[in-house]
Amino acid sequence: MPTIKGFSKLSKEAKIEWIVSNYLDGNEQAIEFLKSYWHNLPAVQKLHDEFIENTITNFYLPFGVAPNFKIDGKNYCIPMAIEESSVVAAAAKGANFWLERGGFQTTIIGTEKIGHVHFIWNGTNEKKLQKFFNDIKPLFYSQTSSITKNMKLRGGGILDIELVNKTIDEPGYYQLKATFDTCDSMGANFINSVLEEFSKVLRLEIENTDLLAEDEKELQIIMCILSNYTPNCIVRAEVSAKLEDLDEGDISGKEFAEKFCRAVRIAEIEPYRATTHNKGIMNGIDSVIIATGNDFRAVEACAHTYASKSGQYKSLTHAAIKDGYFHFWIEVPLALGTVGGLTGLHPMVKFALQMLGNPNAQELMKIAAVVGLSQNFSALRSLVTSGIQKGHMKMHLLNILNQLEATEAEKNEIVHYFKDKIVSHSAAVEIFCKIRGIEVPKIIAKS
Ligand code: MEV
Repeated sequence: MPTIKGFSKLSKEAKIEWIVSNYLDGNEQAIEFLKSYWHNLPAVQKLHDEFIENTITNFYLPFGVAPNFKIDGKNYCIPMAIEESSVVAAAAKGANFWLERGGFQTTIIGTEKIGHVHFIWNGTNEKKLQKFFNDIKPLFYSQTSSITKNMKLRGGGILDIELVNKTIDEPGYYQLKATFDTCDSMGANFINSVLEEFSKVLRLEIENTDLLAEDEKELQIIMCILSNYTPNCIVRAEVSAKLEDLDEGDISGKEFAEKFCRAVRIAEIEPYRATTHNKGIMNGIDSVIIATGNDFRAVEACAHTYASKSGQYKSLTHAAIKDGYFHFWIEVPLALGTVGGLTGLHPMVKFALQMLGNPNAQELMKIAAVVGLSQNFSALRSLVTSGIQKGHMKMHLLNILNQLEATEAEKNEIVHYFKDKIVSHSAAVEIFCKIRGIEVPKIIAKS
């Protein structure tokens, strides 16, 4: 297959033509297919084209909503962008369950962001480097004042800067570790700009200092970058209820709560389960993060590092029974923004934020954490009672039928058929073939 130089310089149409003629056997229908996903308003399409390089079309994700979330006494209908069939349903189910039991409570534990200038200094007298750092520390603030001015006016800025000796891990390795309050922005660009300025100060000042001998002035800046690990940017979300308020069908509230706590405990001690358990939490969190234009890769990376902070990967949620009450909570780092980035640009993100009442970053942290908790509650509730597949396959049924290209009438009939039966892929194919009057394939291909 051919390669190409200067692809990014081609027009969108020329890019598509190149792809189609080189990678899709010149299939003209592929061009129409890609164009069918363009927005019909050219200005909106242009906006999407310009989000990234080499855009050729749009990639749809369902944008759903989960109503009935009561968070700190306020009701929300929460936007969620996600492809997995059962996620919105599970979040909404959890919301309804807790709506009748007082809703979710949240607390912001911290909002501190972190960045580093990673550098190498091979001097032997660390005390001298520390003294040099202490002397020039005010310059880090003053020389970045043009970058930090606006953030300071909003109540944020640089919180602290320290010199960290990491030579025990790597010869000559030091860091300038800076902490920030980035208010309602996620702050990546702000932090990175400040850090790059710090590195210039460091380089210039070390050249001119009298504190260090000439051979101690050699310093190599390796890189300046924020850390997506933000263990002091934490939100807590929780629910609690009297055990008897959890009574359901043939399982008592006490039995349910005990089994539930045991399931959480397993995720606290067993990394295989913790990974799936946290994946379910991130189903909820990510879908809010995507819908509100935040960086789900940063949130994911951070959540998993945080889940490993003890040295073992563990559950992000916890549960306990105390004095006749069931308690279930999550503490999760979420470095989010409601200004900057995509938040003021992407039309669906703007809509999502409006639906939430244009929250500030802290309120969005609370909302996302609650959806993660709700998601986990619903997953565990199913897992320790009916099992997960019953609900999951019901939601997945339409995907199976769409793949079989069932008509609307066939879909309705088959959904009705499964009302009181367990859905499986093969059972869905069998009933579809029966209704169509066609032979059931010997081997039923799965999606
Ligand atoms: C599926 O996407 C997520 C679950 O597996 C989470 C869990 O097991 O807790 C249902």
